[in-house]
Amino acid sequence: MKPTEKFNSHIKRILISEEEIQQKIVETGRQISEEYRDKPLLFISILNGSFVFISDLCRAVTIPCEVAFMCARSYYSGTVSTGNVSITLDVSQDLSKYHVIIAEDIIDTGRTLHDIIELLKKRNPLSVKVITLLDKPSRRIVDMKADISLFTIPDLFVVGYGLDYAEIYRNLPYIAEYEE
Ligand code: IMP
Ligand code: MG
Repeated sequence: MKPTEKFNSHIKRILISEEEIQQKIVETGRQISEEYRDKPLLFISILNGSFVFISDLCRAVTIPCEVAFMCARSYYSGTVSTGNVSITLDVSQDLSKYHVIIAEDIIDTGRTLHDIIELLKKRNPLSVKVITLLDKPSRRIVDMKADISLFTIPDLFVVGYGLDYAEIYRNLPYIAEYEE
C-alpha cells in the first residue's frame, strides 16, 4: 500500500468541512475583537493540537493581541487527577498584565485543561477564558466548560485541523472521523 492510500484508508468521513470551520472562526474572531477591545489580550495555545486553530483564529482577530504557546502533560492515578501537571514548554509573559484566552483543540475528559487553568490562575491574570475548537461533553470526567466552543461533537475519535492519531493527520484541512 502506498503511503497516501494508507493515510486515506482510516478516514471514515468528513465531520466538519474546511468551509464550516473557517466560517465559525471568522464569527468567533469578530466576537473576541469586540469583547476585548482596549484590553491587553494574550492567547495561550496548548500544543500540539491547537497550532492550526490558533493560527487561523488569531488572524480573524482585528485588535492587538499576543500569542504564546504552552505544552503540558497531566498525571493521573486511575481516574483521579493527582493535580500534577508537568509543563514541558511555558509562556514567558507576566500574566498579571493580561486578559488570557486559553486555546484548545478539543476538550475530552477535561482533565488537562482543568490542571492548566488551576496553574495559570495562580499567576494572577486579569481574567482567564477558555476557547475550544471541539467539545466532546459526553466524555467529561472533571467539571469543565469552555467559555467559547465552536463545535460540539459526539463521542467519536477525530483527526485533522491539528488533531492527530499517533502524531499523524494534523495537516488535514478538515475534521474527520478516524477508523481503525
Ligand atoms: P482531556 O480533555 O484531558 O481528556 O484531553 C484532551 C486531549 O486529548 C486533547 O487536547 C487531544 O490532544 C486529545 N484528544 C481527545 N480526544 C481526541 C480526538 O478525538 N482526537 C484526537 N485527539 C483527542
Ligand atoms: Mg491537545
